[in-house]
Amino acid sequence: MLAVDKSSSDFLYRQVIDLIAANIETGTLRPGDRLPSLRRMSKRIGVSVPTVRQAYVELERQRRVESRPQSGFYVRGARLNELVRAAPKFRRNAKPSPVRGRSLMDRVYDGLYQPDVVPLGIANPCMAKPAAKALHRAMKRVMARAEERSLAYAPTNGEPGLRRQIAYRLLDTLGSRVEPDDICITNGGQEALLLALRCVAQKGDVIAVESPTYHGLLELIDSLGMLAIEVETCPQEGVMLDALQKTLDTHPVRVCMFSTTLCNPLGVSMPEEKRRQLAEIIDARDIVLIEDDVYGELLFDGHRPKPVEVYSRSGRVMTCGSFSKTAAPGYRIGWLLTAHYQEQIRRLKRSYSCSSGLLQQLTLAEFLASGDYERYLKSLRPVLQTNAGRMRSLVAEHFPRETRTSNPVGGSVLWLELPAMVDSEQLFDQAIAAGISIAPGPIFSPCQRYRNFARLSFGHQWSDDIDNAVAWLGRKVHELAGA
Ligand SMILES: Cc1ncc(COP(=O)(O)O)c(C=O)c1O
Repeated sequence: MLAVDKSSSDFLYRQVIDLIAANIETGTLRPGDRLPSLRRMSKRIGVSVPTVRQAYVELERQRRVESRPQSGFYVRGARLNELVRAAPKFRRNAKPSPVRGRSLMDRVYDGLYQPDVVPLGIANPCMAKPAAKALHRAMKRVMARAEERSLAYAPTNGEPGLRRQIAYRLLDTLGSRVEPDDICITNGGQEALLLALRCVAQKGDVIAVESPTYHGLLELIDSLGMLAIEVETCPQEGVMLDALQKTLDTHPVRVCMFSTTLCNPLGVSMPEEKRRQLAEIIDARDIVLIEDDVYGELLFDGHRPKPVEVYSRSGRVMTCGSFSKTAAPGYRIGWLLTAHYQEQIRRLKRSYSCSSGLLQQLTLAEFLASGDYERYLKSLRPVLQTNAGRMRSLVAEHFPRETRTSNPVGGSVLWLELPAMVDSEQLFDQAIAAGISIAPGPIFSPCQRYRNFARLSFGHQWSDDIDNAVAWLGRKVHELAGA
């Protein structure tokens, strides 16, 4: 950074503004970067703290930086076109249909595990700042204490200590009164979704999903021989309730599977009032809501919205959670919360997988009880927010102007609408050949909409490889758009 000139007739705070602006322009300070603290900056350039504050506040007024409570001032992301509608030209008279596109999904998964691939196609938020050391310490303490017991089978519905910690956390963060016995520990969020769906629906039943939605959900619906019907979403608030009402009036929907907090891939959350209304809709009809809440802890501002289950009176809402996004995807530990269906869920869990790994459950219980989990999440969220800013600014820099992006309020993925002529499957094939994985748009829809959309993940420890991969993708998109 340059120094200020005290002999100049320019106001000192103006010089501080110019100093910061010049550093932003040259790329020394990038979107998502934290400005030096007021005190530190004041010491470095020899001006008073109030002068630095005046400069930062003016930069905020100019929308070049933003202040985050109890954290400081950050460089704002580059200006981008934001998504106006999640799905352009959405046909509301869509019919329930079997899920198509399995072979593309197979290719996407195969690509993820190729050696040395830059993994922009996988949603892995906690890998942005892995908790490996703290988890290993927790596991060591568990093994020292539990020894042989840690090798044994866990109870079908899970280790009581972990169920109690999850219930305690739900009380602490949401004020929800949950009984540990209403929780069943599962093999990740995916098994929680499977058990919930198997419990309340059968082959041929119609399942309403958000559009776009998480591809793993579609694979599940497909594998159980069920039909999916898409409900339109809005990129600021998630599923549109008027569209949902219409779908429910027209089709024999048995189950809704929605993610009201940080739906994947849009990364937005439903406002509280809409959650209440959604609960009323579910309660008024003979349907079940399976709520996918695996990203609930990962809003950038740390505010965790209440799942719809809290507002529902019928008991026909089940909530699926997971530690895959917030601690360790490889541990494969998730949970299913339901008081109403717990007995059936236990039976299903026993028949599918007996129980989930005990050592991982004991380790996570220890991680939560020690306070390390909370400390870890507090340190992870700002990293994800910084990465989101970086990814958005790279897209602004390298992709064609018409590209539109989501504005995620948490999690680890950015959803892009590319120019209309770009085929994201073609982009995927060429990117994989160049060692970059992306998630092409059609895998997020049962009838393969979103041909010119793609999802990029920013849940990584940032490196030049990521900068280079996004720049490469931008060049390729220009090429495919015929620019
Ligand atoms: C929305 C959503 N739900 C569920 C899952 C599955 O979570 P898990 O890895 O815990 O099985 C994922 C994983 O990507 C997801 O994105």
